[in-house]
Amino acid sequence: MASDFEILGSNARMILDSRGNPTVECEIYLSYAMGRCSAPSGASTGKAEAVAFPEGGAARSIEFFNEKVKRSVIGFNSLDQSGFDNMLRDIDGTDNFSRMGGNLATALSMACAKAVSNAMGIPLYRYVGGMLLSVPRPLGNVIGGGKHARNGTTIQEFMVSAEGSSFLDSILVNSKVHRRIGELLQDRLKGQAIGMGDERAWAVSMKDDEAIDVIIQAAKEVSTETKTKVGVASDFAASSYYKDGKYHYHDRSLTQDEQIDFSISLIKERGFFLLEDPMDEVDFDGFASITSSVGNRAVIVGDDLYTTRSDLIRKGITKKSTNAVLIKVNQVGTLSQAAEAVETTRLAGWKSVISHRSGETTDDFIAHLAVGFRADMIKSGTVGGERLAKLNEVVRIQEDLIS
Ligand code: PGA
Ligand code: ZN
Repeated sequence: MASDFEILGSNARMILDSRGNPTVECEIYLSYAMGRCSAPSGASTGKAEAVAFPEGGAARSIEFFNEKVKRSVIGFNSLDQSGFDNMLRDIDGTDNFSRMGGNLATALSMACAKAVSNAMGIPLYRYVGGMLLSVPRPLGNVIGGGKHARNGTTIQEFMVSAEGSSFLDSILVNSKVHRRIGELLQDRLKGQAIGMGDERAWAVSMKDDEAIDVIIQAAKEVSTETKTKVGVASDFAASSYYKDGKYHYHDRSLTQDEQIDFSISLIKERGFFLLEDPMDEVDFDGFASITSSVGNRAVIVGDDLYTTRSDLIRKGITKKSTNAVLIKVNQVGTLSQAAEAVETTRLAGWKSVISHRSGETTDDFIAHLAVGFRADMIKSGTVGGERLAKLNEVVRIQEDLIS
């Protein structure tokens, strides 16, 4: 007789992400429950991350699923998450999921975990985290450019993170900063159009230094108005404008040393509490110079530097490159590898930030992972349905934990 946790079937289909690009959604069926998950896509991807789709795109992933995966998962014990993930890697046969696509792997891996939690009758965050759970702090993008917007700043993201009395309070304050920035930009750029990037951060044609002034002013004003501490942060995504040994901004080019000094000055002189990817994605030493200079004063996060890979995180730990890691499941392709990355990060005493991608779906699994993995922060924008799908789910989870 089949156990309640034996996989009886699976399904994969193409759906669209928030940019209107195809991605994949999968289902795993058990006797009395099923799990469904869709995977997001990045625009500023790290070189070492899993390939989101094989040649031929999402359509080829679905074909691959029908040819090689659909029958293989039948009869597998869904409680064995790492066994399931290893099976996906074996079926793919490459080290970066370039045959099935990291997004198909992510959707299947997450769908398996969701099916189990549904069969157990517990929320996904409890299945992932067991007894040890915590509510993260929200980190949201409010002005940006880079690969997320045409005509925006060179720096990809300027973010805020309010420390409210509850998660709901914090995201409300973050969204007030977003609104205030819209007003400030309107005043500054009289008559000029103001756009939004892929993550719904404001995107306008202005120098990075001006954007820094605007975010600091808005954060200060909203902080005073709401009596809430609001931290200011940035994801440089520096690899996207690093070329031939220099960091190319709209109005200047910086050497490695100058980029390090600029990063440190944002923390020491402008009060930024967090910087993500301030240096090129292979410059472990450049990152380390920033981290050693700012010490515990700020959170230095590696995203493209690590691409959620434990081997690269371990390299960063040895070199003291950062003191935090960004976690995106589809950078490695499976839930168990992402869990391992979080564990490696925690053992080093570092912070973890669970993150959305710029091309998102309305799937809310990162809300559950942030709580179950006890991440320090969840990075999922400030406004927009696909961003709030995650943030509002954390609001529900917090209510569930308190009651
Ligand atoms: P993405 O980038 O476009 O690859 O999702 C987001 C980020 O750099 O954090
Ligand atoms: Zn990033």
